[in-house]
Amino acid sequence: MYRIGVVSLFAELIDPVARHGVVGRACERGLVELRHESPRAFTTDRHRTVDDRPYGGGPGMVLSYEPMCGAIGALRTCLPKDSRALVLSARGRSFNGALARELAAAPGLLLVAGRYEGLDERIIEAEALEEVSIGDYVLSGGELAAAVVIDAVARLLPGVLGHEESGERDSHMDGLLGYPQYTRPEVVDGMAVPEVLLGGDHDRIRRWRLKHALGRTWRKRPDLLEARVLSDEERELLAEYRLEAGSA
Ligand SMILES: C[S@@+](CC[C@H](N)C(=O)[O-])C[C@H]1O[C@@H](n2cnc3c(N)ncnc32)[C@H](O)[C@@H]1O
Repeated sequence: MYRIGVVSLFAELIDPVARHGVVGRACERGLVELRHESPRAFTTDRHRTVDDRPYGGGPGMVLSYEPMCGAIGALRTCLPKDSRALVLSARGRSFNGALARELAAAPGLLLVAGRYEGLDERIIEAEALEEVSIGDYVLSGGELAAAVVIDAVARLLPGVLGHEESGERDSHMDGLLGYPQYTRPEVVDGMAVPEVLLGGDHDRIRRWRLKHALGRTWRKRPDLLEARVLSDEERELLAEYRLEAGSA
């Protein structure tokens, strides 16, 4: 079982991911366990205060050391030793498929979601949290970012995706964007499914899909192609795609 612990003020924003779809089934089948801890449970005052004003002035509030570290410490006792420990943060390293694979290979995962103006820096230092961002924009809290990480990591765990929905051909699994998909009807609003997909010739279908995965990546994310060494077949298929697109 892969154990995930989340520290956040709003568990209700994260829980749905563990109740529905692929991750929901993985939790039901005991492949993934999601635990939650709120820093409010580690406060000592009547108002259960978890934040305070920033030193040096400025707007907003900052999450305080003691309640956050209390919640983190409580979750650590339920997680395997050497679990990865992340804080969701707009100033962190970008989350991507490679990092999702690294996290899925770890013994477990601790996620800390911030709120307000973020966390007291000393929490990040003392708990050796890796800062991870899900994109170059600012969310109001880390809960949705934590849900994104949980979903992306859980689908990579052994046994979570059945053969039918295997993720091997998903975008980013091999450094390319996914190829186009079609389902019935064969013709809709005058648009037909590409003939090659109807023929049952598995090698032609494989080459067509690879060509379109390469072409799509070249058009939309050329940076991914620059980071990838293409095989002879891939170079040939991409050249074909570019010729057909009129830009060889
Ligand atoms: C309003 S934001 C704080 C922004 C912070 N003052 C800054 O400049 O980075 C509150 C919380 O949302 C989360 N958050 C915001 N944007 C995020 C992003 N792009 N990726 C991951 N978490 C994010 C973090 O947990 C952060 O502590």
